[in-house]
Amino acid sequence: MTTFGAQTTTDDILEGRDLRGKVALVTGGASGIGEETARALAARGARVIVPVRDAEKGAAALARLRAAVPEVDIDMMPCDLASLASVRAFAAAVLAKYDRLHLLINNAGVMASPLSRTDDGFEMQLGVCHIAHFLLTKLLTPALIAGAPARIVNLSSRGHQRGGVDFDDPHFLARPYEKWLAYGQAKTANILFSVELEHRLGPQGVHAYAVHPGVISTNLGRHLTVQDREELAANMRARGVTKVDFKTIAQGAATTVFAAVDDSLAGKGGVYLEDCHVASINDDPVNAASGVRSYALDAAAARRLWDATEAWIAAGGPGDAVAAHA
Ligand SMILES: NC(=O)c1ccc[n+]([C@@H]2O[C@H](COP(=O)([O-])OP(=O)(O)OC[C@H]3O[C@@H](n4cnc5c(N)ncnc54)[C@H](OP(=O)(O)O)[C@@H]3O)[C@@H](O)[C@H]2O)c1
Repeated sequence: MTTFGAQTTTDDILEGRDLRGKVALVTGGASGIGEETARALAARGARVIVPVRDAEKGAAALARLRAAVPEVDIDMMPCDLASLASVRAFAAAVLAKYDRLHLLINNAGVMASPLSRTDDGFEMQLGVCHIAHFLLTKLLTPALIAGAPARIVNLSSRGHQRGGVDFDDPHFLARPYEKWLAYGQAKTANILFSVELEHRLGPQGVHAYAVHPGVISTNLGRHLTVQDREELAANMRARGVTKVDFKTIAQGAATTVFAAVDDSLAGKGGVYLEDCHVASINDDPVNAASGVRSYALDAAAARRLWDATEAWIAAGGPGDAVAAHA
């Protein structure tokens, strides 16, 4: 058996695999880790659906993907994850074209943005990283069940260690906004979502995995100021970390691809992966170098988040209080 780790690339994971006949959907597949995930899956013959919110960016990504893999089978379709209406329209367009889906990679994300809200009034990081993907996944579930065995991969982050979901004020309507707490909350939500998805869909052959890809230089850092970068470095020094081991994009997307295809994970979802293996629990507040917080795997919190997210979506926003605080 091959041992995979931090240096493993997407192509290492997929070596010898034939994905012809498989349909994969990769959100955020026109940039960074998502684009590499789309390339790697398409290079093995999968048809890859990529939602994009900016047609020009999508066309540029498609040109890069075609340059890398001339026979690439990519279906780009419009979708803005900051709008529930757009997610609904996109899901309807996908279901009109595809009756089965084998891989859903919920990869798109926003990190440490200044306070902003989605069209529906949700805090942007929770709204894009979690709520939009929750709705998309629910709408596409019939196609995933039809495609079973199927997998859902939710891109989380080590940043989940910054905090759990604040069920009293998840949208920062009353408490002061703190962008890293908001990112931590959104990335914890990605893990809790994977836990509850596994509980609900696992028996139907659809398994869900949460992934920390590593630290990779992408557009994700677009909101970081010089001060943010200095604070991050100081924070790491304080924890005794002297050097960040950046991954290449192909290494960064490897854990996603591992979660999507590796046989050792068959039927074993509801877990958090890093460096191409299932991570151990780490509740040590000082050593945050790796591992998953137990609050992110808590079954009761996962159920509570599921119910809360359904309620927000049904209400079309976080509640009446948003108008007063927006
Ligand atoms: N890079 C890292 O070190 C790292 C570490 C831990 C976790 N992650 C996670 O990995 C995932 C991928 O990040 P990345 O590093 O590849 O960053 P990236 O290059 O910035 O990719 C993020 C993608 O999300 C898309 N997106 C953001 N808001 C959207 C919206 N409203 N509607 C539709 N698409 C939207 C972006 O589209 P636009 O280009 O149109 O904005 C982009 O394609 C994220 O979930 C991130 O949290 C990354």
